[in-house]
Order: sequence, then structure tokens, then C-alpha cells
Amino acid sequence: RAQQPFTNEPLTDFSKEEHKHAQIDALAQVKSELGQTYPLIIGGKKITSAETFASVNPSQPDQVIGYFAKATTEQVDEAIKAATEAFDSWKRVPAQERAAYLFAAADRLRWFRFQMNAWMIYEVGKSWVEADADTAEAIDFLEFYARETLRLAEEQPITRIEGEKNKLVYIPLGVGAVIPPWNFPCAIMIGMTSASFAAGNTVILKPASTAPAIAYQFIRILEDIGLPAGVVNFLTGSGSVIGDALVDHPQLRFIAFTGSREVGLRIYERASKHQKGQRWLKRSILEMGGKDAVVVDETADLDAAANGIVSSAFGFQGQKCSAGSRAIVVEQVYGQVLQKVIEQTKHLTMGDVTQPSTYMGPVVDENAMKKILDYIEVGKGEGRLVAGGGHQGPGYFIEPTVFADVDPQARIAQEEIFGPVLAFIKARDFDDALHIANDTEYGLTGALYSQDPERIKRAEEEYHVGNLYFNRKCTGALVGVHPFGGFNMSGTDSKAGGRDYLLLFTQAKAIAEKK
Ligand code: SER
Repeated sequence: RAQQPFTNEPLTDFSKEEHKHAQIDALAQVKSELGQTYPLIIGGKKITSAETFASVNPSQPDQVIGYFAKATTEQVDEAIKAATEAFDSWKRVPAQERAAYLFAAADRLRWFRFQMNAWMIYEVGKSWVEADADTAEAIDFLEFYARETLRLAEEQPITRIEGEKNKLVYIPLGVGAVIPPWNFPCAIMIGMTSASFAAGNTVILKPASTAPAIAYQFIRILEDIGLPAGVVNFLTGSGSVIGDALVDHPQLRFIAFTGSREVGLRIYERASKHQKGQRWLKRSILEMGGKDAVVVDETADLDAAANGIVSSAFGFQGQKCSAGSRAIVVEQVYGQVLQKVIEQTKHLTMGDVTQPSTYMGPVVDENAMKKILDYIEVGKGEGRLVAGGGHQGPGYFIEPTVFADVDPQARIAQEEIFGPVLAFIKARDFDDALHIANDTEYGLTGALYSQDPERIKRAEEEYHVGNLYFNRKCTGALVGVHPFGGFNMSGTDSKAGGRDYLLLFTQAKAIAEKK
């Protein structure tokens, strides 16, 4: 297995009846499991709690997905203790064995694929296609990091000198906190957790409070494959209570976080403060937001550009850090592209995500809905509403919304909305468009539609984003193919799914012996 080069897991073709039926059956199976109560897991022990919170279906908020324990700060201490104890033996487990756990988890997830999709369809309102891509990406992360674990265990290239035996080895860091987002609740959660333990660390996984049931499915997989107790501990609860307690803990060695700019900055600041008894500088691996743009010039294939703009803006309701929430179009073709985008947007289907043909589901929760609707109100004062703008209940559905003629400095052109709201911005020419694209505090993804090789070359150098795409959408990075992470306030550019990623979870030790 390890000898075979990494390849991406194929996406499911739901036009095939057998796949469609498998997904329908999995939706029925998972539906019958909704509403259960889940424990914390500390050192392999299941710990129930009197105080719980409910995770609900955003399409139908009166449907409870599951009840989850509200962990206390004392339980944070216990989890760190359990992870510290487990680290002492886990760090000695050979790389081959660690990699084998990842391969086994990948196989188990393949077997569980339609059910994992179903959990995402219910718990965060993903469409079939978005859910399936999320599970495929999770399998990719497991397969990719398994191979990376083996690569880092190989002899590393260093300069040799006469009279000495030299080597460099990568050793783990220690106990980490993994704080994943709800928007790729399977892929990013599994990616950050598996990279951590693949590298020899032990962790406390604190899932997003809107997606804990999905994370629990991974915990089940880890139990099934026999990952030793304490390597991955599972703590649910309020971010402001247990999140801070975890990050502040003197025995915590690193934090792997993906989420908002606000929470990322909070973690960065808190992690930088030395705590009594702390023996290291905590490492923060942070992936935060984006205000990503799709730029279109007058040489572009305008139909392809309109397509790319719509799928970048509205895939999973725009709730991706990679979402193209700005379309920056040169004035020569601005009207044409806008018209095409409005047409396509009006044809997007929104509603019941348990149906295979639905393109858009709800946004994740009431807070998100309120925030997005507030931005839509702001947008009405900053641009011309040309599509959408409305909310449809009782779930948290927001129509795909387009504002035209937005000033590049407007709030809806600068602030991450994390919802289905697209700002259309007119540029004088290509230079102006490139300037506008770069003129935000973020730098995660960006696309350019152009047929001009000179401009593509210039954009390669000047478009300042971690993931740059030409003549395609700016979402949907593939593991191994498009290592993912951004510049500036988008985070630490950790490049998930790339050869640099696992290194972030290790420290290098150089060893020399005089002959
Ligand atoms: N990796 C995802 C994408 O590229 C975002 O997290 O869309």
C-alpha cells in the first residue's frame, strides 16, 4: 500500500442507481440514530456529563442530531493528563505502525462513506455532492499523511563530513489541541487530527459545537481500528470555556486550528503567553478566513468565468474560507458577466439536502443566519441587489445573493461574510482588477479568468494568495495536488495536504557522532 503513490479518492457518481440507493439507505440509517447522547472520551474512557448541549439539523432546527457533554475546565486538565501519559508510549511507536493506523482508518472511512456523507447532510446541511467531496478529502488526508509519515522517517538529506556520522530525525512535539471548523467537519477535522498523531503526538480533539456528531463518527473509526487509548481524546463544549483552558494549559505543546479570524487571533495571542511551568514556546498552526476573488478580464471565456464565479461563491452556501465572495470584472465585459451570473444564480436549487439534486442547503445555525442577513442589509446600502437577498424558514436558508457595483472598500467587499453573498466589483482594466484583488487583509485563494499568457504570468507573481487558480474556480483544493493555506490574515500558510504539513507537527533533531 505504502509503495503505491498517492492518488485522490474518486468522487461518487450519484447518477448511478446503486450509489444513489446506497446514499438513500445511509440517510435512513443515520436518521434512525439521531437524538442520542454522546460522552466525552478521556484516556479511552467514556465520560458522561449531566450538562449537555444539542446539535441540531440546520434544515430543520427542531430535529436534534445528538446531545453532547459540556466539558468542564477540570476535564480539560484530565484530558491533557491522559494525552501526556499516552504520549510517553505513542512517541515510541515506529512510523510504520503509525502509518498503518492511518491506512486502516482510510479503509474504514471508505466502507463508512455514505453514512459519513449522511451525517454531514443532517448535521451541517451539506448537499450530497459537497458531503461526498468532504469524505473523499478526509480519505485523501489519511492516505497522504500516512505516506508522509513514512517519508519523514526515512534518512533525511544532510551534508556529510569526514570523521562524523550525521543524521537528522523528526520527532513529535507532544500534546496538541485540535480545533477544527464545522464547514469541512469531516475532512479538516480528520486532516488535522490524523496529521497530529501520525507525527507521533497525542491530542485533545475539540470539535465545533455545530458538528460534534460528525467528529464522533471518526472517534468510532479510531476505536474500530484499535488506536491506543489517550492518543485522541474527545472533548465537546463551549469554545470560550474549554477552548481557552486548552490553549492556556502549560502542558499543551501545540494548537492546530481552522476557523474564523477572530478565534484564530485569540488563540495566537493566548498561546504566545508563557504560563507558569511551561517549558516551550507553543506552536500555533492556524488557518483562518478569506475574502477571495475571482478576477475576469476581457479576453476570458465569459461563460466559463460566470460558471466559476457562481460555484466559487455559492458552493456549500458560501461557507468556505476559499469561497469567491468577490467577483472583480473589467468594465469592458462587466455587464455581460454580471448578467450571466444573475441568470445562473436564479437557477440554483435550494432546499431539501436529503434530495440528490439540491444544490444549496441552509447556513449552519441561527447566529450565522443573523450575521449573514445583517450583511445583506449592509449590502443594500453599499451596492445594487440583483439576486436573492431573502431568507426562507423554518430552517436557516438564505437565497444566493448578488450585489452589483460594490466599491472595493465597502464592508461587503472587505469583511468575510461566510455565507452566500457575492459582491460584484467593476475594475477599469486588468491592472486595476489585480490591485483590487490584493487589496484586502486576507490572502487565501484567488482565481483569474484570462486567455492572455502575459497576464497569467504577471498574476503568478503579483496575485498574493496561497492558492492561485487560472481559468477555474477558487474552491475545491485537492490533497496532494493543491496544498492548501493562505497568506496574511488568512493564517500561517500551513499547506494542508502538502509536503510541508507534517513537518509542522514535528521538531527536527540533528545528531552527530565523532567516528
Ligand atoms: N480546501 C477547501 C477548498 O479548497 C477549503 O477549506 O475549498
